[in-house]
Amino acid sequence: MAAISQGMSKLGAAVGLGGGRDDDTRAQVDTGGNLQDFMGHPFEKNTQRSGGNLGGKVVRTSGGVTVTSNKDPDRRMRAVTWHGPRQMVVEERPRPLITDPTDAVLRVTSSAVCGSDLHLYLGSAPGMQRGDVVGHEFMGFVEEVGPEVKHVKKGDRVVACFDIACGRCRSCSRGAFSGCDVTNSSKDQEMMYGARTAGLFGYAHVTGSYEGGQADFVRVPFGGAGADVNLLQVPSDIPDNKLLLLSDIMSTAWFATELGAVGPGTSVAIWGAGPGGILAAHSAQVRGARDIVLIDNQQYRLDHAAARIPGLTTINFGKEKVKPALERLFPGGPDVCIEAVGFHYCKSMAHAAMVKTLLETDTADILNELIYCCRKGGTIACIGVYVGLVNGFNIGAFMEKGLTLKAGQTPVQKYWGQLLEMVKSGKLDPTMVITHELPIEDAPRAYKIFNDKTDGCIKVVLKTGTTGSEPPGATATGGQVSGSEPGTAASASATKA
Ligand SMILES: NC(=O)c1ccc[n+]([C@@H]2O[C@H](COP(=O)([O-])OP(=O)(O)OC[C@H]3O[C@@H](n4cnc5c(N)ncnc54)[C@H](O)[C@@H]3O)[C@@H](O)[C@H]2O)c1
Ligand SMILES: [Zn+2]
Ligand SMILES: [Zn+2]
Repeated sequence: MAAISQGMSKLGAAVGLGGGRDDDTRAQVDTGGNLQDFMGHPFEKNTQRSGGNLGGKVVRTSGGVTVTSNKDPDRRMRAVTWHGPRQMVVEERPRPLITDPTDAVLRVTSSAVCGSDLHLYLGSAPGMQRGDVVGHEFMGFVEEVGPEVKHVKKGDRVVACFDIACGRCRSCSRGAFSGCDVTNSSKDQEMMYGARTAGLFGYAHVTGSYEGGQADFVRVPFGGAGADVNLLQVPSDIPDNKLLLLSDIMSTAWFATELGAVGPGTSVAIWGAGPGGILAAHSAQVRGARDIVLIDNQQYRLDHAAARIPGLTTINFGKEKVKPALERLFPGGPDVCIEAVGFHYCKSMAHAAMVKTLLETDTADILNELIYCCRKGGTIACIGVYVGLVNGFNIGAFMEKGLTLKAGQTPVQKYWGQLLEMVKSGKLDPTMVITHELPIEDAPRAYKIFNDKTDGCIKVVLKTGTTGSEPPGATATGGQVSGSEPGTAASASATKA
C-alpha cells in the first residue's frame, strides 16, 4: 500500500506539472540562432520545432530582433477547445502556419469525437490546460506544405492519423509508429512511463502539446516526410464518412483483432459496444472469426451492432452476469477477449471509490473480468485507454491461466493503407457506427450526447463545412444520420436528416 501511495504521489506530481502548449500567443524571437518564446524563455529543444521559425509569420521587427509566430493573427478559424470537465467551447483562434520544413497545414472537412476524447471531456486524463484545441480523428485537404514535404502537395485529399510519427526513428522503423521516439517532448510522460511514446494530436500535454483537428485548420507535423508518414492520400470520389475513421477508430478496431491474432475459427468476446467495440466485431467477422460476442449495458448500442453484423451475439451486463452467459456460449471461455472500454468506466463501487479518492487513477474492474472469462492460454487484447495505476489487478488468475495480454495505442500508419483498400472494395464499412453529423459549432452537444449515450448516439462526425470539401451528396446539414439502417450502412454518409 505504501508503494502504491508512493507511486500515486509520484504520478500525481508528474501529471500536475503540465507542459507548454503549442500556444497561439507564443512567438519566436530569432536572435541569431537562439530561439526564445516572446517572454524570453528559451524553447525546449524538441523535434516538434526543429525547423525553427521557418515560415512563421513576422509579427514585429524592432532593434534587429524579428518576432515571428507559428500562428497567423490575421486569419481566424473555429476550433473546439477544452475549458475544464464537461466544458467544451467552440472559439475563434488564429490559423496555424507551417513552422517546420516537414509540416503540412490541413483544411479540415470532417473530424470525429473519439472515446478517448471522453477521457479529456470528463477531466479524467491528466495534463490538460484550459483552451487546448482538441480532436485527433480528422481529414481534409492539404492547404500548404513545408519545403521538405515530398509526397503530398497542396490540394491533396488526405486522412491524418491520430499518432504523430517521425517515420525514421528506431520505433518507427519497425512499424511501431505509436511509440515514435522523437515526436513527444513531454518529460512528464517519461517520468510516468520510463519512456516517451508518440505525440498525439489534440490530447493532453503528456502527449506532446500538439493542437488538435476539431478545427477549420490544423498543422500536421512531419506530414509528408519520408513515406508520407502522418497523411494518407485518399481518392476524391469516396465520401468523408467512409474514410474518416481510418484516422483512428477503424484502424484501432482492426489493431485489436491483430493483437488477438483473430482468424478463421477464433472465438472472440468484446467488452464495450462503442465505436471501437462494434468495429472490432466487424473486423473479427471480416477476418473469419467463428463466434463473436459483444458486451455492454447500453442496449441500443448492442441492438445497433446486432442489426449490422450478421451472427453477432450480445450480452447486456446490466441484465445478466457476464461469466455464466459466456460459459453457455463458449464452455471454457473465448479464445480472445478484447477490451474496448477504457480506464474511466468503473464497474464496482470499490473501484469507483478508489478512483474518486485518488487511491488509483484507473480501474482494474474490466481487465479482471476479461482475465476471469478468457479461456486458459487465451489472449487479451486491450485497446481501451489506460493512463496510470490500478489496485487489485488479478495477477494470480492471469499467471495461473497462462494468458497473454497485448495492448497499445494503434500504429495507424501500419494498417491504414490495407484498410483503405478494404473500404474501397466494400469489405469494411466504418460508417456503420456513425449515428450523427453535426456542424462544428455543435461540438459541445456532440460531446454531451456521445458521453451521456443519449439520442441514440454512437459516433459523431463534426463538419467544418469549408467549401469544395467533399464529393457531391456528402455535405453535412447536421443531425442524426438517417441512412445507417441495417444493411444500408454504405449509404449512411450521404443521407442526413
Ligand atoms: N488504443 C488506441 O489506439 C485507441 C484508439 C481509439 C480509442 N481508444 C479507446 O478505446 C476505448 C473505446 O473507444 P470508443 O470510442 O468505443 O468509446 P466509448 O466510450 O463510446 O465506448 C466504451 C463502451 O464501453 C461500455 N462499457 C462501460 N463499462 C463496461 C463494462 N464494464 N463492460 C462492457 N462494456 C462497458 C460503455 O457503455 C461504452 O458503450 C476507449 O477507452 C478509447 O479511449 C483507444
Ligand atoms: Zn481516438
Ligand atoms: Zn519516429
